[in-house]
Amino acid sequence: MVTDAWGRPVTDIRISVTKRCNFACVYCHDEGLGPVARPHAPHDEELSVTEVERLVAVAREYGIRSVKFTGGEPLIREDLEEIVERTVRQVPDVSLTTNGSLLAGRAERLRDAGLKRVNVSLDSLDPTAFREIRRGALAPVLRGIREALRVGLTPVKLNMVVFRLTVASIPKMIDYVGSEEGLKLQLIQFMPELVQHARFSVDLREVRAWLEAHASRVLVREMHHRRIYLFDRTEVELVDPVRNPEFCANCHRIRVTHRGELKGCLNRNDDLVPTRGLDDAALRAAFRRVITTRVPFYGGYVTDLPAAPGETALLARAPTPGPADGART
Ligand code: 5AD
Ligand code: SF4
Repeated sequence: MVTDAWGRPVTDIRISVTKRCNFACVYCHDEGLGPVARPHAPHDEELSVTEVERLVAVAREYGIRSVKFTGGEPLIREDLEEIVERTVRQVPDVSLTTNGSLLAGRAERLRDAGLKRVNVSLDSLDPTAFREIRRGALAPVLRGIREALRVGLTPVKLNMVVFRLTVASIPKMIDYVGSEEGLKLQLIQFMPELVQHARFSVDLREVRAWLEAHASRVLVREMHHRRIYLFDRTEVELVDPVRNPEFCANCHRIRVTHRGELKGCLNRNDDLVPTRGLDDAALRAAFRRVITTRVPFYGGYVTDLPAAPGETALLARAPTPGPADGART
């Protein structure tokens, strides 16, 4: 097994199939590429079906067991069903992160192509607030969620970015998720790293305290050591990567940009490894390079982590990071 100098293997790949998006969420980090103009017309940088297929084949050789497609908005691609179909032949665990607006008409075909699950971004259940945050309409997204449930793309995980404009509606969202069999909620801490709106950030300590006080149980997921709070049978997962070395120490994910570059960390763009036009040997070498040279962003790349008041406990719990004896294979 190939790992980095921190002993982290990679088990999971997130592939951006387009930079295009029909929404313009105020918080969007553009999959870690930062705010760049979003072209709405197809652009020749997008990976072809065959390119995705080759990347997935090599990813599998390196132990990657799940693939998540993302964008921009992946459903903007009309050939996404074909991409999914070719991917599942090599890696059966294939899921999708979508804004949901185009999902209702495609969910069944995607399931038939072999898609297992979807994550749908849903930050508010109020149409006006939703439009303010996403610059798009809520109703088609709710239809998309219902259709995904109907055709069995479950669990349907709802991604809610926790920031100034949403934090007060967390309890309402938990009620909604609890009202439908097959839904789960992911509360995603707003990440200010690549978008400039630091003013959006909220102090997660209150959110954590609220979840702890109201949940019936707390579990820890292997991936990123994310906390899962159970509300009866409803799962609410807290994704809190910001300044969190424990999260980074348990990150087993690499990414592929819409241009086909391998990306070892969401928060960095100085280590992209291009793959376009490479032959098989060079493509394998590119994967090896991105996997072995990955560095945990917090606790590895950024070590200066002055604890905010109340965060000391979190930092103290984190494993001591640091290169042990070089990259192991
Ligand atoms: N902070 C946190 N999450 C973000 N997303 C996009 N931008 C940000 C950000 N700045 C999440 C959304 C969406 C997924 C593609 O990425 O939840 O569901
Ligand atoms: Fe960004 Fe996704 Fe929102 Fe589109 S739907 S603007 S890609 S977060």
